[in-house]
This record gives sequence, structure tokens and C-alpha cells, in this order.
Amino acid sequence: MKNPTGSACGKIILFGEHSVVYGHPAIAVPVTALHADVFIQPAETLVISSRNFNTEYEILKNPLNKNETGFGLQETVLNTLKFFNLLKKQNIHITIDSSILPASGLGSSAAVAVAIIRALSNYFKKKISNKDLYDLAFKTEVIYHGDPSGIDPAVIIHEKPVYFKSGKKTRLEPLKVANKIPIIIADTGVRSSTKEVVSDVKKARASDKDKYDTIFSEIIPIVHRVRDVIEKGNVSELGRLMNENHELLKQIDVSSPELDLLVESAREAGATGAKLAGAGRGGHIIALAEDNVQKISKALVDAGASHIFFTEIV
Ligand code: MEV
Repeated sequence: MKNPTGSACGKIILFGEHSVVYGHPAIAVPVTALHADVFIQPAETLVISSRNFNTEYEILKNPLNKNETGFGLQETVLNTLKFFNLLKKQNIHITIDSSILPASGLGSSAAVAVAIIRALSNYFKKKISNKDLYDLAFKTEVIYHGDPSGIDPAVIIHEKPVYFKSGKKTRLEPLKVANKIPIIIADTGVRSSTKEVVSDVKKARASDKDKYDTIFSEIIPIVHRVRDVIEKGNVSELGRLMNENHELLKQIDVSSPELDLLVESAREAGATGAKLAGAGRGGHIIALAEDNVQKISKALVDAGASHIFFTEIV
């Protein structure tokens, strides 16, 4: 098959999901085994198609409205063409092919947006800075997720483990990983909407601000400790910190019986630690698997994981 015109990797949030939405720090890492690929070919008109959903849109003839699937893709394309001053160049067919499962905490929407923007930049030979790429991808994230922190496009664009903090001045600091960190990612098979979960947490925080802010303030030192541990190479301590972060995520009600079962099964089978990763209520868990990879993988499948894969943080 032809090389994609643009592509982008997946991601996992190692620590600090949800609290990151309120300006607290988080750590995310790329998953390069997963990728969203975008192919562009000349065409009569402006067409977007997705191999994953078997859909095709002729977006200038029949623009999608914001409740329709595909609206986010349409807006990413139009915003990017506008940014490059190319809105009049409507003669391309954009095909999306992504191995990143949507609504599963692996950064599918941000990866597809980044891949589309990179593909348009490559196809029309227009340079784009990482800052502008981030700003354009962030607009798509707002369409999909309502009030995102921006960590997903940040880690996906940089393709490195990052320490991230949003705010008036976003802090994005690449991390040096002293020792490789072996991670098993297991899918509950339950899809969940980041937008809904983030919005539920927001509502719950509005009615019990003290509780939520206390929990978020307990996540901050965990994230700082993780940064130190990753940079110094004390991998085993990460497991204990994962367990602590998972307990705090349970307290803000973003875990689920399926996530808890996978987390407990991984720990019982010998994982040094495990936690949900991403928005929660479905999607994936991550387990630190220094040894016993086969045993942990089997335990996860026996506990109902619909899919598991292994990644190394480097
Ligand atoms: C999404 O990958 C992680 C959340 O923290 C939402 C966000 O940061 O926008 C749940």
C-alpha cells in the first residue's frame, strides 16, 4: 500500500487524567504501534472518507451539521485549508484509515486530527509549526470533547513522554526515560465518551467542590513523584503510584466494574501496579508488567479483556 500523506500515533495518559482538565499536571506517553493514517489524492471535489466507518462525505456540497458523525473531520479539514489559505483548492479526496479504536482512551480523535493536518501540509507543501498544528488540532478536540485539557494533541504531536499542564501558559516538557517501562494495555471492550465523562466530573465537582479539589490535590504529588521516578529509573515504584492514582480516580467515580476487574486481575497475576487510563467508565487499563507478562496477559483475557497489547515507554 502507498505511504500515507500524513500520520500520527496513539497515546496513553500515564497519570493525572481528569485533574489535568483543572490545570493540574499530568504525564502522557505516545503509543507508536497505533496510528491514524491519512491519504490524499486529486479528485473532482472535496471528499472525506473513512475506511474505519465505511463513510464518505462530499463536504462542500452537503456540509455536515454539528450533530452528525464526521462533523469533527469536516471542521478539521476546513479549518486547516483556511489556515493555509487554500479554501479554494477543493479538488482532493482525503481518506482516513486508523488503527486507534475510538472512544477507548487511546487518543483517536486527536490522532486523526493531527494526521489530517499533517497530510494537508505535506500534500500542499505548506510548512506548519508544532504550535499551529497544536492550535488546529485543539479546535477539533473542543468539537469532540467539549472542554479538553489539550494533553492528547500535545503528546501525539511530540511523540515523546511528556509532562503537561494547561493554563494561560501551557507547560509541555518532554521527559527523559532512564529505564524502559514495560506496559500492558487491556481493553474493557466498553466504549465511553470522553465528553460525557469529563462533563459528569465537572457537574459533580460543582456540587462538591471541596471533595473533588482535595482528590485532585492528592493527584498532584503523585504526578510529580512519577516524573522523578521515570527520569531516575525506579520503575517498580511506578506500580505503587499507579495503584494510588487508580484509587483516587475511583473516588471521582470514573472507574467502572469492568475497569476495576481488569485492574485487580492484573495486580493479582503479578503486575507491579495497574490503573485505568484516560477518561474512564470504559476504554483501557494499563498495567506495569516488569515480569510475568504471559501470566498477566492471560489473567486479563480471562477477566474479559477484549483486546490486549504490549508497549514500552522509552
Ligand atoms: C483524555 O485523554 C483525558 C482527560 O483528562 C480529558 C482531557 O485531558 O481533556 C479525561
